[in-house]
Amino acid sequence: MEHVKKVKRVKSVKRINQFLKWIKGYKLIFLISTILLIALQYFRTLSPLFIAHIIDAELDGLKSPLPTFMTSLFTGDTVKERLAIIALVYVSFTLFRVVIMFGRRMINAFFTESVAYHMRNTLYKKLQDLSFSYHTHAETGDLIQRCTTDVETYRVFVGEQLIEIFRLVFLIALTIYQMAKLNGVMTIYSVLITPVIFLTAFIYFKWVKKIFKRVEEAEAKMTTTLQESVTGIRVVKAFAKEKYEIEKFDADSKDYMKEDFHLLKLMAIYWGGTDVITFFQYAITIAAGIVLASTQDLTTGEYIAFLSYIGMIVWPLRQLGRIVQDFGKTTVALDRLDEIMLKESEHDGDSENHPPIKGGVEFRNVGFQFEDDNKPLLKGISFKVEPGESLAIVGKTGSGKSTLINLMIRLLDNQEGSILFDGVDIKDINKKHLRENVGIIMQEPFLYSRTLYDNIGIMDQNASEEKVYKAATIAALHEDILGFEGGYKTIVGERGVTLSGGQKQRVAIARMLLDSKPVLIFDDSLSAVDTETDIQIRRALSDYWKDTTVFIITHRITTAMEADKIIVLDKGDIVEMGTHKELLNQDGLYSELWDIQTNVEYDYKQTVKGVK
Ligand SMILES: Nc1ncnc2c1ncn2[C@@H]1O[C@H](COP(=O)(O)OP(=O)(O)OP(=O)(O)O)[C@@H](O)[C@H]1O
Ligand SMILES: [Mg+2]
Repeated sequence: MEHVKKVKRVKSVKRINQFLKWIKGYKLIFLISTILLIALQYFRTLSPLFIAHIIDAELDGLKSPLPTFMTSLFTGDTVKERLAIIALVYVSFTLFRVVIMFGRRMINAFFTESVAYHMRNTLYKKLQDLSFSYHTHAETGDLIQRCTTDVETYRVFVGEQLIEIFRLVFLIALTIYQMAKLNGVMTIYSVLITPVIFLTAFIYFKWVKKIFKRVEEAEAKMTTTLQESVTGIRVVKAFAKEKYEIEKFDADSKDYMKEDFHLLKLMAIYWGGTDVITFFQYAITIAAGIVLASTQDLTTGEYIAFLSYIGMIVWPLRQLGRIVQDFGKTTVALDRLDEIMLKESEHDGDSENHPPIKGGVEFRNVGFQFEDDNKPLLKGISFKVEPGESLAIVGKTGSGKSTLINLMIRLLDNQEGSILFDGVDIKDINKKHLRENVGIIMQEPFLYSRTLYDNIGIMDQNASEEKVYKAATIAALHEDILGFEGGYKTIVGERGVTLSGGQKQRVAIARMLLDSKPVLIFDDSLSAVDTETDIQIRRALSDYWKDTTVFIITHRITTAMEADKIIVLDKGDIVEMGTHKELLNQDGLYSELWDIQTNVEYDYKQTVKGVK
């Protein structure tokens, strides 16, 4: 039993920390806001006492319930004069309250907006820092929802409701204090069944939290479906799968509706239920007041003040129930944010070593297996490339060529063996430094929805126009770009032109030309370009990158043959290694590919000639 209690306590400490960590840098401003709030609540509980004072002290000649710093202001010889002053004080007092209230709201607005701003940026940075494998498994729609809806849920909670908890708790406490000062017995009657409201809120909170989680999950699922089908709309249309997509979205949307409906039903029960309890509390207070007043135990002024005070307790309590309900929602949102924040960043424990990288690369017995795979994808991979050399990697689709590259820049980590850059194990090289020294032209390059110029210039924002044009020319792209109406200012992607696969690949190559790197990797990056253009580009590039170590992954033997060294990957192993000539003589996979491809090229050329 002790143990269970301890676990629970640890859990709630964790919760509080989880809650407060986002407002850490804003404690002072939060404190000021809270102090102003407490003062405001105290002023509020003084309000009903003005009427009690008028009735009891001025008219009936009894003791005043107002604090002396107030009553000392009420000078005057006649009741009339004093009433005028009381009215004046009351009006000034109310104005003063309004000014403080405004100030507090402004401070609070600044506080919440700053918190949300800080939160969004922290999350964004974390997303950038998370590993490649995290992102290959994370769902985009879900991540976006976490960074927007979940942040908003927290912002609303700390900005409007956390402070509201303080406000209500202080209001209730100060109200009870003022009531107790007026009349002890009557106070007991006035709060008699309020604990039931608390209890109801508590039970409801436990219940509703699970349902909130389900609602959030259903919403995330719906967002993901929406995001996927919109992104893939071309495929959807090309395969005439609109009906299927609509049905899928409809199912997700229905699930979301069901969960939300369930939640609304529970809310209706809660509000209705607490309404009844509130009604009973009013009834008890009214009845007790009449009885006590009839036996002279309660003055008229006090009775009126009590009727005011009861509202100051019961309404906040119900409000508290609602906040508790939002607290449930917020803890779910925070848990979801923590799922991102507590993930290990790929830079945690990273080496601080920045050795010079000249371009010598060596694989020593490298083995790699994906976590969700049952057998290794690569095993015992060993080869060595000297600075300035070129290496072609050939192999069937799915043989692990791109994976091998991902290992080289530590987007993935090999479980066996080691990879060395100029004799230094990459695990002892700072990741950022490593990646800055290796240029990759990806198999499926990603272009931003910006101008073509910006897309090329992304590698070097300070590059001169000439340099950008020259890069585009080497990549055999300049003519294509001038062919567009907007030239280099043409917007690419969703808001602009759709580039062909080959054009995209050439943008990716032009990008790389702006920045010189000791190691360059072409992951099938000219696959969508015709053979002639491929050769033309590569000729231009080989002059440009004379001293660069170049890795070329390709399915085209005519491309591979020009490399200093060629390796052939099959079933996780290097099955052949050598120069073009050596491999042709080996009668293996390479020469087989050579035969197929040269025959095809030959046939193709004959056909073209024939047609001409
Ligand atoms: N994140 C992952 N989790 C599990 N398996 C993966 C993951 N990424 C890739 N694979 C698998 O690893 C294998 C090798 O993939 P890889 O992309 O390295 O092949 P490739 O040789 O580059 O092929 P291609 O020539 O088609 O580009 C494939 O079977 C692929 O399905
Ligand atoms: Mg690949």
